[in-house]
Formats: sequence, structure tokens, C-alpha cells
Amino acid sequence: MTIKLLTIESYRSIQKLELNLQQLNLITGHNGCGKSNVYKALNLLAQAVNGQLASNIANEGGIPSIMWSGHRNRTKFNDRSSRLNLSVNTNEYCYRMSIGIPIPVPGSMFYLDPEVKEEQIWVGPKPRISNLILDRKANTTFTYDLNNQKTTYPFCLNLSESVLAQLKEPQRYPELFNLSSAIRNWRFYHSFQTGTNSLIRAPQASVRSTILNDDGSNLAAAIRTIYEIDDIELFNELIADAFNGAQIDIVDPHQKAKFEIKFKQANLFRALEASELSDGTLKYICLVTALLTPRPPEVLILNEPEMSLHPDLIPHLAKLIANASNNSQIIVTSHSRELQAKLTTRYHANLIQLELGNNGTQISGNNDLGNE
Ligand SMILES: Nc1ncnc2c1ncn2[C@@H]1O[C@H](COP(=O)(O)OP(=O)(O)OP(=O)(O)O)[C@@H](O)[C@H]1O
Ligand SMILES: [Mg+2]
Repeated sequence: MTIKLLTIESYRSIQKLELNLQQLNLITGHNGCGKSNVYKALNLLAQAVNGQLASNIANEGGIPSIMWSGHRNRTKFNDRSSRLNLSVNTNEYCYRMSIGIPIPVPGSMFYLDPEVKEEQIWVGPKPRISNLILDRKANTTFTYDLNNQKTTYPFCLNLSESVLAQLKEPQRYPELFNLSSAIRNWRFYHSFQTGTNSLIRAPQASVRSTILNDDGSNLAAAIRTIYEIDDIELFNELIADAFNGAQIDIVDPHQKAKFEIKFKQANLFRALEASELSDGTLKYICLVTALLTPRPPEVLILNEPEMSLHPDLIPHLAKLIANASNNSQIIVTSHSRELQAKLTTRYHANLIQLELGNNGTQISGNNDLGNE
């Protein structure tokens, strides 16, 4: 299921933004224009489907702080204009979620919890009675069967969470279940923390891993999994091309189910360990591992992957991203001119340039990227 259209309303710097997406998408723009906010909005939607909407919003400071602050009186619980709306039109279903402030309960300290005010799932470009599959309004939720028979969803829903996270009886609601598992499988990578005490640098449990964790903490196991079940030649070629013929081996030196990375460089007598590698080297190895996953997701979202990489690595990164777009829809945010040039001219990425104006983040018609 690929995303054709993403609509975000009243989320951080975004008042209203509609993005038409293709298989390979590059979102660029000046610092502060809202690139990461697009990434976070998609992540929020995925978290909502995982039942993490309330905790995610609480971690970000509560619903009023994540809403676009360009309107006054934003915190009215009953005002339709003070809602955060997220919607995705995929090639199969469309899903819209509208989140707002809860009805105040005297004495309650949970007044910053989000409340899911509306949720709709439908087939086709616009929601109509004839193509709705689900319609949630406050605490009443209806589902529609193939004959447009409207039925009240029989379970009581938690108002702070998406219906897709609370779905019971998947066999009775197969479309809803398909959509929720598609969104749940979106994969996000933001930045790999590679400081001295990073888990990426430490020995790691030798658990077969077809997916790199979003913090890179199973890097050694994920590399070994690629070696055993997938395209080891491409992996080796990408590492060798980027680092002057270097090679990576994974070892379990004490046979204690703890994997370690050995990085062999042509000019050194001994292999280096993960703890000795540079931040940029480790980040690039993480990106190669994430993008050569033996289990590609339907949608893969990368936020500013060029961070800490030397400009020489950017053409390699572009090739890696383009290669991954053969198996996954890719949405990448970046302010690297080099990555933009490579992805758009060589790999024909859909370029979305953002700018920050009085009405928040907008699509820019101007192709000058400005400062990086
Ligand atoms: N609730 C809010 N209302 C309005 N604007 C907000 C809100 N929260 C954050 N912002 C604005 O969002 C912008 C930051 O957006 P974001 O982090 O997406 O930028 P970016 O394009 O990723 O920048 P960079 O290239 O520096 O990473 C800032 O301009 C900030 O002022
Ligand atoms: Mg950013």
C-alpha cells in the first residue's frame, strides 16, 4: 500500500499541507521550514495505529504545543478549527484522523491528553456514504459492510487512541485490519546516535534481525542476517566503494551469543571494532543496513540521512536510496544540495520543496535551496 497523498493540518509549523507522493520522494528546504515536521507527522500517525498516540503527544508537550500556533484560542475543546488532522490516501484505502482537546473534566489533570474526535476510512478519492468503511465521531463508531449496511462498532473505544489500535475481531473487519497492519509496518529512521556509549558500538545479542532497529542497536545482527539471507555482494560493494575497499565481518569471539563488528581496512594490520569507528562511518553502515533490509517495508521514511556524512558519501547514499525505492516507497527529507541533485536528476525523485511563510510550512515554487 503506497501513499498517494498526505494531508497534514495544524501540526507544529504546518497549518495545512498537501503532499502528492510517488515511489521516491525528496522533501527539501531551508532550516526550520518544516521538513522534520512532515517526518514527525507521519510518525505520529504510525504511533497512533500502534496505540501510542497519547504517550507520543504527551512526550512532545501535550496537544496544544504540537498544534500549529498561528491561531489564537487554539485550545478550545469544541472548536473544529482547533483540530490536528492527519490523512493519507493510499492506493487502496484513505484514512483520516482528527485529534483535538478533550472535554474538560473538573479536577482532572489529563486536560492535555489528545482526544480522537473523528476517524474515517474509505475507498476512493473522497469520503461518501457509499464508500465509507468506518466513521468514528466522538464516542460512536460505525462500520459499513459490502452492502453499505451501517453497524455500530460493538466495542467501547479509548477516546485518546485510534480505532485502528483497538481493533478487535480482525476477521470481521479485514479492510481495517489490512490498513492498520500496512501503517504499522511503515519504517522510520531519523538519526543514529553514535556517541561513545552508543548501543551501536557495543557487542550485541546475536538474534536474527531482518530489520535494523530505529536506533541501530542490533546493527551487527542485522548485517549478519543480510549476509545469510540476502544480497551480501551489494552490501560488500557499497561498504568497499564508500570506504576505500573496506570489508565488514561479524564475529562472536567468545561464543556467548554476542556479536561484534570487525571493520577491515586495506592499510591496517588489524580489524577495527565498532567502538573505534568514526560517527560518520557507523552512520553510513547503519544506513546501508537499514536500506538493504531483507524485508523491505511498503513505506520507508528517512529524516535527513546525510547528517554527519562526508559529501563524498552522498552519491553512494543517493544510489542506495534509489535502489531501496525498487522495493519500498521512499520519503526522504534532506537539505543536502548534492543529494537533491543526484536523486532528482539521476533517479527522477519527486522533489517537494518546502518554505516557511506567514501561513506556516508551504510548498515552495522556488527552486533555490539556499543555505545548507
Ligand atoms: N506548535 C508550533 N506552531 C508553529 N510552529 C512550530 C510549532 N512547533 C514547531 N514549530 C516550528 O517548526 C519549525 C521547525 O520545523 P522542522 O524541525 O521540521 O524544520 P526542518 O525543516 O526539519 O529544519 P532543519 O533543516 O533545521 O532540520 C520551526 O520553525 C519552529 O519554529
Ligand atoms: Mg529537521
